Amino acid sequence: MKLLISNIKTLVQVEETPRKWVAGTDMANLNCIDDAYLLIEDEKISDFGKMEDMPNYDEMDGFDHVEEIDATGRMVFPSFCDSHTHLVYAGSREIEYTDKIKGLSYEEIAKRGGGILNSAKRMHDATEDELYEAAMERIHEIISMGTGAVEIKSGYGLTVEDELKMLRVIKRIKETTPLTIKSSFLGAHAVPAEYRGRQGEYVDLVINEMIPQVAAEDLADYIDVFCDEGFFTVEETDRILNAGMKHGMRPKIHANELDYSGGIQVGVKYNALSVDHLEFVGEEEIKCLKDSETMPTVLPGAAFFLNMVCSPVRDMMNAGLPVALASDFNPGSSPSGNMKFIMSLACINYKMLPQEAVNATTINSAYAMGVQEELGSIARGKIANVFITKEIPSVEFMPYAYGSNLIDAVILRGQRL
Ligand code: NIG
Ligand code: FE
Repeated sequence: MKLLISNIKTLVQVEETPRKWVAGTDMANLNCIDDAYLLIEDEKISDFGKMEDMPNYDEMDGFDHVEEIDATGRMVFPSFCDSHTHLVYAGSREIEYTDKIKGLSYEEIAKRGGGILNSAKRMHDATEDELYEAAMERIHEIISMGTGAVEIKSGYGLTVEDELKMLRVIKRIKETTPLTIKSSFLGAHAVPAEYRGRQGEYVDLVINEMIPQVAAEDLADYIDVFCDEGFFTVEETDRILNAGMKHGMRPKIHANELDYSGGIQVGVKYNALSVDHLEFVGEEEIKCLKDSETMPTVLPGAAFFLNMVCSPVRDMMNAGLPVALASDFNPGSSPSGNMKFIMSLACINYKMLPQEAVNATTINSAYAMGVQEELGSIARGKIANVFITKEIPSVEFMPYAYGSNLIDAVILRGQRL
């Protein structure tokens, strides 16, 4: 199977030598080739370059059946990597949306039995098949919006059985879509109502029952904890991460969304792959992230939807840190997996340059979900997950035209969908 995309107006995010991530002032640089071609063989990117240097494939052995797409006027991007979602869930929560409009805070809604516990109840009542069907609709939607890899968390189960049910659904999605999927076990997302006042016992359940069973079925790549004010403490997070790591799950956690929670520090202490949300980041947190292997990941959709303060992304980049962006797709705080819109929010609300936003939603978010060796850029040998835009004037036009669908064709694992 060979696919040749020719006459590409601009081939975006090209790497001769793949990098681990892009950090600091480098984030403003985006490597592109104008008037380019891209050759895909089987599932992988095999070659690319300027049209004037394109080999004469017609005359080469083995090139009798090359499918060709003429991309005149159109750009090719590597697919987005969405490194933080909760897209397996049962039922939407627009009632809370109106409560929020009326002025209730996230914590107030959670205290009234809304929030995560509301989703946990519905998760309990849903069958695996129902959850799978609903999640697959979201999967098809994000594919059409340019996402090529997605991390999905558990965390709406909050009982041994229901957490396993969620993770089995994620496993089934993994096996049945061309998207690259990573899964995170987030048993410590909220304390269930039955454990109110006995939070320590719930943490024990996560450590002693859930983690071993999740590991026995090999259901999770990563271990996550909502380490924040009103949710799980640093000490509890420390214990849970330790237990997860003993079972081979690297930490990748929710931190500093609601306060200077110490979540970043405990994440870095255990070499988390990423620490996510980061509305509350000061000098100490930045210092801690420097020289770590942990990707600071910002979720502009959640901050937008909950009307929160913005993470100090510029301070992190000025300090030389990389930054990744993800959607946080979930029914409570970010009911959208539209990564192009996430770029627009990053540009408008966080003053990120369009080039920085592209780096943050491709290479850096690929790192944040552990797929940077196979995805996140146009590089020889990487999986051919790319999208072709409609005719657009520039890279900047992508986040600028924030409400327009600018994606014309999606290619996943070398197959045009
Ligand atoms: O990432 N911050 C914690 N958890 C989710 C919210 C989930 C929900 O409200 O259902 C988040 O925003
Ligand atoms: Fe989240």
